[in-house]
Amino acid sequence: MREPDAAFTDPRQAVLYDVFDDDRSDLDAYVAIAREVGARRIIDLGCGTGSLAVRLAGEGLSVVGVDPAGASVQVARTKPYADRVTWITGDATALGGVAGEADMVVMTGNVAQVFVSDEDWSATLTVVRAALRPGGRLVFETRRPEVRAWEGWDLAPTTVSLPDGRAAVVTRTVTVVDLPLVTFEGSTAIDDEILTSTSTLRFRDRDEIERDLLAHGFAVEDVRDAPDRPGKELVVLARVSLEKGL
Ligand SMILES: C[S@@+](CC[C@H](N)C(=O)[O-])C[C@H]1O[C@@H](n2cnc3c(N)ncnc32)[C@H](O)[C@@H]1O
Repeated sequence: MREPDAAFTDPRQAVLYDVFDDDRSDLDAYVAIAREVGARRIIDLGCGTGSLAVRLAGEGLSVVGVDPAGASVQVARTKPYADRVTWITGDATALGGVAGEADMVVMTGNVAQVFVSDEDWSATLTVVRAALRPGGRLVFETRRPEVRAWEGWDLAPTTVSLPDGRAAVVTRTVTVVDLPLVTFEGSTAIDDEILTSTSTLRFRDRDEIERDLLAHGFAVEDVRDAPDRPGKELVVLARVSLEKGL
């Protein structure tokens, strides 16, 4: 499995994730879906700094937060209700211990796009299916490739105030568009330090996603719009077929 980006694994960058992305109203839709389907045991795969995991735990749900970026999980552990979450530093293959028990696996923040290779995506879907109970759901979002979001990702040097009063100068450049892959480089300058991270994301269209889910034993139950980003993303609800084991 490909290593996560420095933006998530470097402790100096992981603590900035919630500072730069402080509006998490995108998570409301996932809390609502958990309620809608009556999920009680939830795995937040690619939980990052744990914003959704702790929110769900605060609602009394049983939550496992999984992410291979230890520095991001460390940030998650400091949040209110973090002590109610089971944290696992690893990718989906570390989920063996909860096999067949989860009502819902969720991937927010476009985690589905970090699986660049077919092998990593397939391995993840295989383990996710095994972690779910029969009839359990995989719920995730992914950017619609036809919207070409990357065309708006370049960011000229922009100064952002940090909670400790210091200033950070943030820059982002899309370096390679070789569809379905898009690569971009981010840099954050704080005092004399320059922190960098290179990311590659894969854009899968709806047909490809539905085909992949079907091939891994899921039925696509619904494909919705992300309420906070209308027209830009697909929110996919897939259900493990009741004939688990086939
Ligand atoms: C954009 S962040 C989203 C984090 C979180 N879900 C959220 O909504 O804030 C993408 C996350 O995917 C994680 N990631 C990278 N490779 C992964 C893998 N193989 N399995 C699970 N998560 C992975 C990264 O470490 C990072 O935390």
